[in-house]
Amino acid sequence: MARVVARLEPASPYPDHLRRLVETTLEGLDFFPADHQERVDADGTEGLVEAMRYSLLAGGKRFRPVLALATAEALGRRPEDVLPAAAAIELIHTYSLIHDDLPAMDDDDLRRGKPTCHRVFGEDTAILAGDALFAEAMRLVCEAQAGGGDTRVEILRELSRATGVGGMVGGQFLDLRDAGHDSAAALERVHTLKTGRLIGASVHVSLIVASPPGDVDALLRRYARSLGLLFQIVDDILDVAGNQDALGKAVGADARLGKATYVSVHGLDRARELARVTHADAMATLRQVPGDVSDLEALTDHVVERTS
Ligand code: IPE
Ligand code: IPE
Ligand code: MG
Ligand code: MG
Ligand code: MG
Repeated sequence: MARVVARLEPASPYPDHLRRLVETTLEGLDFFPADHQERVDADGTEGLVEAMRYSLLAGGKRFRPVLALATAEALGRRPEDVLPAAAAIELIHTYSLIHDDLPAMDDDDLRRGKPTCHRVFGEDTAILAGDALFAEAMRLVCEAQAGGGDTRVEILRELSRATGVGGMVGGQFLDLRDAGHDSAAALERVHTLKTGRLIGASVHVSLIVASPPGDVDALLRRYARSLGLLFQIVDDILDVAGNQDALGKAVGADARLGKATYVSVHGLDRARELARVTHADAMATLRQVPGDVSDLEALTDHVVERTS
C-alpha cells in the first residue's frame, strides 16, 4: 500500500523470534487460580476468562513485549529473564484497548480485526475483562518474574506508575477531556501519558532487570520516551492515512470523535514531518548505546513503516 509515514531500508529484520516467544507465553497463560480451593471458588467465571482470552489472543503486534525482550537482549540478558514482565505489559495494554473501545470512550466496533470485546460479550463483561487483565498482570509478575522480591516490587512499581494517574489512565482521561486542543505541548503530553508511558515501561522493566551503568540507563530512558511519543503520532496518522483491513480497526475514529491528534493540530504533512524528526531522535539516542541494538533499531524503524 501507499506510504503512510516513511519507507525505510531497515538495518535489520523485525525480531520475529521474540514475537513468537511472546505469543507462546500469552497462549500458555492460565488465568484460573492455581490453588485448589481458589479454583473451586472461581467456578462459573469461564465466561470472563473467555472474554479476556478473546481480546488478548486476537493477534496484536505485540510491540511492547517484543520491545522489552529486545531491550533485555541489548543489555546482555536473556529474553526469558524479563518475559513475565513483558507479558504483563501486553495484558495491561489489552485491557487499555478493551476499555478504550467501550461506548463510553471511543465507541469502536472493530479491534485486532475482530468485533470489539463489548460487541461480543457485552459492556459489563468487557469492563470486567479489562479489570481482570490488569490484576492478572500484577499476579504474573508476583508469581513468575525472575530476580527475587526486590526486582518484582520494582517492576510492579513501574507498571502501576505507567498505568496510573501519571500514565495511561491519566492520559486517557486527558484525551477524553480534549486537553490536547490547547497547544502542541499539551497534545504531546497527552500522547506521552496515554501511550508513551506503557511503551516506556517496556524498556524500563528490562533496565530494572539488567541494571546497566547510569549513562546507558539514561540513554535508553530517553530513547523510550521518543519511541512512545512516535508510536502515538503514527497511530494518529494511520487513523487518516491507513487502511481498515491492514489496521484491524476502523479508520476515521478520531475525526468522528473530534479528538485532538497530531493530524488535527498540525495537519497531515507536518504530522509526518514530526514523526520523521521523532524517529530520527530515537535512532540518534539508540546509536549511542553500547552493545547490539540492531533489534531495537528494527523495532524503531517498524513504528514509522508500519501499516498495521
Ligand atoms: C493501539 O496499540 C493503541 C495505541 C496505544 C496507539 P497497538 O497499535 O500496539 O495495537 P495492537 O496491540 O497491535 O493491537
Ligand atoms: C489509545 O489511543 C491509547 C490507549 C491507551 C488505548 P487511541 O484511542 O488512538 O487508540 P486506537 O486508535 O483506538 O487504537
Ligand atoms: Mg482513545
Ligand atoms: Mg481508540
Ligand atoms: Mg488511534
